[in-house]
Amino acid sequence: MLELRQLSRNFGGVKALDQLDLSVHKGEILGLIGPNGSGKSTTVNVIAGLYKPSSGSLTFNGIDLSQRSTHERAAVGIARTFQNIRLFANLSVWQNVWAAHVVRDSGWTGLRKRWLASGRTARDEVQELLAFSGLAGKADVLAGNLAFGEQRRLELARAAASGAELLLLDEPAAGMNAEEIDELDARIRSLRDQGRTILLIEHHMELVMAVCDRIAVLNFGRKIAEGTPAQVQNDAAVRGAYLGAEATATT
Ligand SMILES: Nc1ncnc2c1ncn2[C@@H]1O[C@H](COP(=O)(O)OP(=O)(O)OP(=O)(O)O)[C@@H](O)[C@H]1O
Ligand SMILES: [Mg+2]
Repeated sequence: MLELRQLSRNFGGVKALDQLDLSVHKGEILGLIGPNGSGKSTTVNVIAGLYKPSSGSLTFNGIDLSQRSTHERAAVGIARTFQNIRLFANLSVWQNVWAAHVVRDSGWTGLRKRWLASGRTARDEVQELLAFSGLAGKADVLAGNLAFGEQRRLELARAAASGAELLLLDEPAAGMNAEEIDELDARIRSLRDQGRTILLIEHHMELVMAVCDRIAVLNFGRKIAEGTPAQVQNDAAVRGAYLGAEATATT
């Protein structure tokens, strides 16, 4: 579905991504992990179009994305959440999801076709997404007044509302308590079961190991391992990268 080939992105002298090859297969939950600063958010930003790659190629369902705008990428079926939550703080929960749903009218994805065929209205869909996110009782609350975990849930609802086939989730569990993380686990699986494909960036290892079909590991912008959760957990290079990061953090 999504193919990154030899993708690099530099910031001044920093190689945030260094010749990254990454494939995301339709219908999977792919985890992307790695120590702080290893290039995970940069990967999402390059896929979503916030940053242009310095070199390399990026295709989605055979379409070359490298010169497309963020809006065009949304229209072909890519949605994301932000590590630092970005919502319309002065709009209600309902309006935030509604605004994201409008994107559906500008694209022609398989999900949109199914939605049109289902006969459900946009209003029905927004209501369902609020229920799915545990926010039905907060529809009229301003997004800026929500608790932190609720804001993360709203971001996920917004990404899902766009009808995108591919969801890029940048640390959706950050700041959540154990119960919220369990709920997030169930929501991510449910989105996949609805036919979405998910790229999940997370530091919360228990969640990543439980929910992902495959995991790719970055260190200094390079992919150092890829495989099933069990393979990655037992990989010497991965252990080394995390131990190295801990050593740096404590000195
Ligand atoms: N807009 C930017 N300008 C300059 N440098 C950047 C920018 N974005 C990222 N970088 C640098 O690129 C490298 C990778 O950053 P990135 O945010 O992708 O890491 P990450 O894996 O998401 O880290 P974290 O786990 O802390 O979120 C870091 O060295 C970072 O400082
Ligand atoms: Mg990040």
